Amino acid sequence: MCGIVGYIGKGNSVEFLLNAIEKLEYRGYDSSGIAICGDDKIKLMKKKGRISVLRKSVAVSKDFDVKKGVVNTGIAHTRWATHGKPSDVNAHPHVSQSGKIAVVHNGIIENYLELKKSLRRRKVKFLSQTDTEVISALIDSLYDGKDFLKAVRDTVNLLEGSFALAILCSDFPDTIIAVKKDSPLIIGFGDEENYIASDVAAFVDKTKDICRLEECEIAYFKGDKVKFYDFNGKELDKKVTHIDWKIGSSTKEGFEHFMMKEIMEQPEAIKETIAPRIVDNKISIKNLDELVESVNKIYIVACGSSYHVGAAAKYSFEKMTGITTIVDLASEFRYRIPAIDEKTLVIIISQSGETADSLAALRESKRRGAKTLAIVNVVGSSIASEADHVIYTWAGLEIAVATTKAYSAQLAVMYMLILYISSRVGKISDDIYREYVKHLLSLPDFVQKMLEMKEKIYDMAKKYKDKDNVFFIGRGVDYASCREGSLKFKELSYLHSEAYAAGELKHGTISLIEQGTLVIAILTDKKLFEKTLSNIREVQARGATVIAIANEEKLNSVDLEVDEVVPIPNVPKMMLPSLTVIPLQLFAYYFALLNDRDIDKPRNLAKSVTVE
Ligand code: F6R
Repeated sequence: MCGIVGYIGKGNSVEFLLNAIEKLEYRGYDSSGIAICGDDKIKLMKKKGRISVLRKSVAVSKDFDVKKGVVNTGIAHTRWATHGKPSDVNAHPHVSQSGKIAVVHNGIIENYLELKKSLRRRKVKFLSQTDTEVISALIDSLYDGKDFLKAVRDTVNLLEGSFALAILCSDFPDTIIAVKKDSPLIIGFGDEENYIASDVAAFVDKTKDICRLEECEIAYFKGDKVKFYDFNGKELDKKVTHIDWKIGSSTKEGFEHFMMKEIMEQPEAIKETIAPRIVDNKISIKNLDELVESVNKIYIVACGSSYHVGAAAKYSFEKMTGITTIVDLASEFRYRIPAIDEKTLVIIISQSGETADSLAALRESKRRGAKTLAIVNVVGSSIASEADHVIYTWAGLEIAVATTKAYSAQLAVMYMLILYISSRVGKISDDIYREYVKHLLSLPDFVQKMLEMKEKIYDMAKKYKDKDNVFFIGRGVDYASCREGSLKFKELSYLHSEAYAAGELKHGTISLIEQGTLVIAILTDKKLFEKTLSNIREVQARGATVIAIANEEKLNSVDLEVDEVVPIPNVPKMMLPSLTVIPLQLFAYYFALLNDRDIDKPRNLAKSVTVE
């Protein structure tokens, strides 16, 4: 969704800002804009469409020739339309009528109509249909010509809704103010220059020393200094965090797409997530004992693929820990009245750590007294900061909108958690525990082997690239993998697909199977193999073409008689989803590639869903 960047320093602000918003392109946007402070005025350029359009206009404008040796300030934005259609005028930054104040905004101002009405009474004119324009107008109307910071503080105290802001004032060309409420904003500390962004991807190539603004905080940058305040004007002491991502960068490193690069990074992401947490062949997760003590129910709450991780883990969670485990969509959970109390552990899974529904579910769980644990990829994100405990997935920066390596790292954390809790509650013998830990350590190698099937999956995608409808069927843990496979397929291909519990087909959906319908059947769970095989026969009897992703050991004794077979090594059942997902990701990727889709930025999608 929308992206904010800001720059203050003696370098080339324009170059930084344009490069930085390009790094946020993956989040999805429909227009972009930039404003810098120079010659005592705000210089502005906004364009509908791709950043390349903005770049071209900036390149031919004299306004954007940056002076050397002086402090340069600037802000830029990628907009994903909410209030008002994508257009030049609705794009950010929004500049006040006097031309003094420029604002970029992520989030939604809920009382903007009310504020607009009162500003109109004072003869303020509005050009756009956005909620954001009231912010620049309000700051300007409250600005006494001297105290920029006070005008911003007075304004944010009048705003309702969610807002991350970066603000310029032409009277102070060496100053930027950044504000955060319910929408992420991060400060990066560089070498005599500082950065602001809604996502670290914007500046991670410049610095890994960051500081996240917490709720209702203001960062006030002047020259190379920065001070932090709350909304009442009290100065705050904030710490710098160093993000220690070993893998992932904001460049494609020779791959055609970030998605393929990230698919290939999965063994490393799993290793980085698991290895530091296994000490003397034991899973060691700090401060978790207290959290899991006296827990009698577990809720796993998340959205999209992160929810599928919960769905896949549920089977082993319940079986191996003996604790009732309920998996719920955050958007449903937050508006129900789930039976949770202080004996409930709520696990929130989120790559970004900023998903609005997951964050709301976390807050609701805390309000009801539950213990909360977050599994998050982005260090210091809102969900990570607010949960009682956090386990980070060390997948590194994930750029492609469709998650792959974060999904795999999340699964790895779930396996560790299952083993950790089952050993704490005495449900697993030492020998079996040790066996599992051994398997866990070899998981990256198995995933690597799966990735070596790349060409085979490409050939399959080529053969079936004209299909316009795909069914994914499986039982138990394989049904969970079906859901992830189907989501990956539809988000990348823009085609219909459906994940179905194989046993449910007969209860209605089988009416959709006809000659040539493509069915991807997953049969990795040995115990359910024959059951799903019967369902394969049923769809074949109605003309379906079947690709089977099947347990290798079983394949040695059974002739599947299907159109294609992808063998899955016989690892413990708990870990099967980590292997099954690889051909599913690759199939979705190649299918989309062969159909010329926008792989890294599928239409209508955003990487971090910060609105509900
Ligand atoms: C699908 C995908 C999304 C996310 C979902 C939750 O490929 O990436 O379904 O999984 O939007 O996002 P996070 O994990 O950031 O909370």
